[in-house]
Amino acid sequence: MIPKPVLQPSTRVPARLREEVRGVLITRVQIARRVRELAREIERDFQGRDFVVVSLLNGTVMFLADLIRHLNLPLRLDFMGVSSYREGTSARELFYTKELRLDVRGRDVLLVDDILDTGKTLASVLAKLRELKPRRIKTCVLLDKPSRRVEAVRANYAGFEIPDLFVIGYGLDYAERYRNLPFVGVLHERMYLPAAD
Ligand code: IMP
Ligand code: MG
Repeated sequence: MIPKPVLQPSTRVPARLREEVRGVLITRVQIARRVRELAREIERDFQGRDFVVVSLLNGTVMFLADLIRHLNLPLRLDFMGVSSYREGTSARELFYTKELRLDVRGRDVLLVDDILDTGKTLASVLAKLRELKPRRIKTCVLLDKPSRRVEAVRANYAGFEIPDLFVIGYGLDYAERYRNLPFVGVLHERMYLPAAD
């Protein structure tokens, strides 16, 4: 069962951020507990395998660091940089800022991303990785927003299923800000919608 967190009162948001962040969707305690559970599932599936973790920059920094500390397996780690030109909170064209360096041919790959939204990012990265002929690819995301899906991709491991809200924190950004927050919060719409006056 994938947990479905609900928005918590803004009293949990640090005072300096109350004008910008509507509330906490997932607390640091909830994240820590769920990341350990995901790691246990992954350990079970990748037991006895020498595999490559491919993590997508930049949003996965915190999730990845926490997740792999709980994986007691002989893994290797590499990164792909993928970015999208954004207008407000909706993505447009994808471009790669860093290519994979490790050879994944014939290997098991665990692909890690922060959030599965429309699915365009994972669909594009999966197509690119498959050209490198890995033995199999499993996908792991911290957050899944199924209501926004455009591409038919799913995550083999998903931390939380969330509603259609723009979230920030624990690695996730809005205009490159808020990545350092230790919780997942919901951004106030006025931060990205033009003022209605
Ligand atoms: P997709 O390609 O639409 O699935 O979007 C995936 C990428 O968009 C993620 O890797 C994030 O970088 C970004 N993204 C999607 N939704 C959110 C959000 O609610 N907050 C922050 N970033 C998001
Ligand atoms: Mg991202």
